[in-house]
Amino acid sequence: MAKITLIEHGGQDHVIDAETGKSLMQNALDNLVPGIDADCGGACACGTCHCFVGDEWLAATGEVDAMEEAMLGMRPDREANSRLSCQIQVSDAMDGMVVRLPEFQM
Ligand code: FES
Repeated sequence: MAKITLIEHGGQDHVIDAETGKSLMQNALDNLVPGIDADCGGACACGTCHCFVGDEWLAATGEVDAMEEAMLGMRPDREANSRLSCQIQVSDAMDGMVVRLPEFQM
């Protein structure tokens, strides 16, 4: 279990107890966090689970693979700390992590 804070673009924050081994996207949906659309259900094919990971937590989320890189490349709002939350497997090392959600998914 990892306590993760997701902050909607409008500033509303949601602190969830995320289950390890599940994706951040699935954890957000399970906790009814708005701002994660996840239209493709986690297949890394839509880009609507985009999020911005706090810089100090990026290493804990692992590497961006080629497929995620391709999807992120289609996001005009991409930043250096952009990730697709369906590609982040929650681990205990993410306890305390803070993630912002983009305006596009409001
Ligand atoms: S849910 Fe579609 S890319 Fe993540």
